[in-house]
Amino acid sequence: MRSTLLFFVALATAQIEESSQEVRTLTGSERRITTDSARPTVTLPDLDLSTMVSELDSWLAENSASTNSTTTTTVSEPPLTEIIGTKETSTTNQTSSTTTDAPEPTNTQPCNNYVEFCTRRYSNITEVCAHNSPFVRKNNIAANQHLDVTQQLNDGIRMLQGQVHDVNGTLHYCHSSCDLLDAGPVEDYLRKVVAWLEDHPYEVLTIIFGNAEYERKNAFGDALVTSVNFIEPIQNSGLKRFIYQPPKPRMTLSDWPTLGELILSQKRVITFIDYNFNTNAVPYLLWEFYNIWETPFSPTNFEFPCTLGRPDGIGREQQDDMMYIANHNLNVEVAIAEWNLLVPNLVSLNTTNGIEGRGSLGEMVNTCTGIYNRPPNFLLVDFYNEGPFNGSVFEVAAQANNVTYNRKCCGRESRAAYGLRPSAGWPVGAIAMVIALSW
Ligand SMILES: *[C@@H]1O[C@H](CO)[C@@H](O)[C@H](O)[C@H]1NC(C)=O
Ligand SMILES: *[C@@H]1O[C@H](CO)[C@@H](O)[C@H](O)[C@H]1NC(C)=O
Ligand SMILES: *[C@@H]1O[C@H](CO)[C@@H](O)[C@H](O)[C@H]1NC(C)=O
Ligand SMILES: *[C@@H]1O[C@H](CO)[C@@H](O)[C@H](O)[C@H]1NC(C)=O
Ligand SMILES: *[C@@H]1O[C@H](CO)[C@@H](O)[C@H](O)[C@H]1NC(C)=O
Ligand SMILES: *[C@@H]1O[C@H](CO)[C@@H](O)[C@H](O)[C@H]1NC(C)=O
Ligand SMILES: *[C@@H]1O[C@H](CO)[C@@H](O)[C@H](O)[C@H]1NC(C)=O
Repeated sequence: MRSTLLFFVALATAQIEESSQEVRTLTGSERRITTDSARPTVTLPDLDLSTMVSELDSWLAENSASTNSTTTTTVSEPPLTEIIGTKETSTTNQTSSTTTDAPEPTNTQPCNNYVEFCTRRYSNITEVCAHNSPFVRKNNIAANQHLDVTQQLNDGIRMLQGQVHDVNGTLHYCHSSCDLLDAGPVEDYLRKVVAWLEDHPYEVLTIIFGNAEYERKNAFGDALVTSVNFIEPIQNSGLKRFIYQPPKPRMTLSDWPTLGELILSQKRVITFIDYNFNTNAVPYLLWEFYNIWETPFSPTNFEFPCTLGRPDGIGREQQDDMMYIANHNLNVEVAIAEWNLLVPNLVSLNTTNGIEGRGSLGEMVNTCTGIYNRPPNFLLVDFYNEGPFNGSVFEVAAQANNVTYNRKCCGRESRAAYGLRPSAGWPVGAIAMVIALSW
């Protein structure tokens, strides 16, 4: 019920009328939210998404305890749109016998680009991960991506991974050393992610913070960087309000909600840290290795084995109840100045990011699927936009998900082809999704 109400409140444009028989009338003028459990009546001004979401949060908090009673809440200024009504076949109306004739609503709003994903668990979807997402630098040997995070997200990347270092007390994304490639403060990067999330209300993202300082100690002999150091950039960037707080720190596959549920709650970012987690202090920053295992990382072996890399010492039974990452970035070892580095093998990208053949991403997914009876949850790649054809890594993910990849990729040229435009209003699909999911 809460979810249903949430989105009825959110459906605030004139497009609503076209949606379906479930939404009865659309008029405007008053400034109130009135609800009763059977028939929510919602009055809302045209707000931008962020205002809308925060108003909804407080509205839900006030009303969650008393959904049976009628409540009136005043929200901000006009112009106003009123939405009256809910699905006619609501289970709260047991007296109606004609309701079974109503057609089942069908969701048309994609979640993470596919309608099919709305009802699938977060743990039952394969997404492409941008390895070292912040490291975009022309002619820098330590770069891992060509396109910046906003473009990555526009193109379909749904997991962001990056290596975090401490620079005089501030967290920065740096590759190996901040002298080599400093992509700037984590907070600045997260701000871009937040801006994108605000413009794309139906998208669920995963962020993995790699703690490169996991061995360093401060003057007191304590770990220099732990989960606690991430609170500041997460809060200052505005990311915090999008973060999903799971009910427990160690989630099994069947514990995870569906994408639709995450989207309806607008808690649609899942955050992990690889080392020095502290879920007592920062409960939402989950320990990666309670929830995800990985194949060997930083591989230089183009066979890309599907064996367990991290964490050490878990058995197959435990692996079977966790999500997993296929590390599929091929490296070469180079020595520059005092560093001995693993850098992306650019020469073989056509093969590495391909859909078939020895050493390809597609082959790895098939091999892993054969062993574990399910595809990897995340496909970690370098230069996701490179490959034998544009978007080849997304094609691999689509095949793993049994959906059809039909979008153009990658780069600026295709930018307008997908994604919601900011302030474009709520599309009809939103309503359909809400109705279908809350059926
Ligand atoms: C809400 O209504 C249902 C059904 O009428 C009833 O069973 C339930 O006790 C009510 N809850 C509250 C908090 O009044
Ligand atoms: C239940 O449905 C019937 C038939 O559509 C309608 O007449 C009645 O008003 C509804 N009751 C409530 C409480 O919505
Ligand atoms: C995963 O999703 C597929 C496709 O919807 C479904 O057939 C399958 O039962 C799901 N598996 C689990 C474990 O939820
Ligand atoms: C860090 O602090 C030192 C000493 O104050 C200073 O020399 C250095 O430039 C600082 N580094 C950065 C990246 O701000
Ligand atoms: C990758 O493959 C495409 C299509 O076969 C080809 O046009 C391109 O030149 C190749 N790139 C490299 C670096 O081999
Ligand atoms: C894959 O999708 C096709 C077409 O939508 C469907 O017929 C088939 O049952 C699906 N297979 C699995 C394993 O989900
Ligand atoms: C592939 O992507 C590049 C860069 O965005 C673009 O210039 C090119 O036209 C695309 N090719 C195809 C076949 O879409």
